[in-house]
Amino acid sequence: MQVFYDSHSFSGYIKTQKEQHKTIGFAPTMGALHAGHISLYKEARQENDIVISSVFVNPTQFNNPEDLEKYPRTVEDDVKKLEDSNLVDALYIPRVEDIYPNGMDRKHYDFGGIENEMEGAARPGHFDGVGTVVEELFVQVQPNNAYFGEKDFQQLKIIEKLVEVLDLKIKIHGVKIHREENGLAMSSRNMRLSEIEKETSALIYKTLKKVNEWFKVISVPEIKTRVEEIFKRKDMELEYFLIADEETLKEVDFFSEDRNFRAFIVVNVGNVRLIDNLHLE
Ligand code: PAF
Repeated sequence: MQVFYDSHSFSGYIKTQKEQHKTIGFAPTMGALHAGHISLYKEARQENDIVISSVFVNPTQFNNPEDLEKYPRTVEDDVKKLEDSNLVDALYIPRVEDIYPNGMDRKHYDFGGIENEMEGAARPGHFDGVGTVVEELFVQVQPNNAYFGEKDFQQLKIIEKLVEVLDLKIKIHGVKIHREENGLAMSSRNMRLSEIEKETSALIYKTLKKVNEWFKVISVPEIKTRVEEIFKRKDMELEYFLIADEETLKEVDFFSEDRNFRAFIVVNVGNVRLIDNLHLE
């Protein structure tokens, strides 16, 4: 695996791949790599000549400076994990000035309203920051295919819209959530949980599975009340739970046969913010 630490050397590599007409699969990350990331590379490996990943903790998508500061940075480990996985041909670890040569400004996007729901409402500016960095990475990497985890389902929908709005010829692939044995969705933030917290956090996925059983049997307001009851406890704080239409991401309070729905949840465990979701069958 080749590792590039600046845009200049990386652009030379991309130029060579393009001259050789290689197809490029790309999975951008913020590092602290885990088995969830590996599943992105596995999928990319099957569909492309070259697999590229990036590690960049993007300051403009954090609306909370403490969250940015505490975000795990484990670059040496990440490089080793990728080398051991044998799935990735090149890793790009840009510097801030490679992504933001003209200063760290966010672009503003209109994604048709989905950017204002859920995480957009909870974290103002977050999706403008994600759009800005992903657009720049797409320009530099020039992928044919790009891979994003369904754990950040709203982000996945935003990236699909980004590609549509900018008319980029990149196919976006959503990859299923990878879970710990106890059901906890894999996330770089899990590193900040104690062993006990990891165990108690299993309640998040257990609850989503219950919601799936209740779906179409009891009403949405009743489901919400039950979920709120489950999280009335001292060691976890339910930030939001809702059921939304999978396309519009708008919260619903009743179901219709012709739409797809998904349950979304955010829970704070200590000072770690955990997010998860489940397609309702
Ligand atoms: O999902 C992430 O890790 C980040 O939001 C992304 C897509 C790499 C952009 O910084």
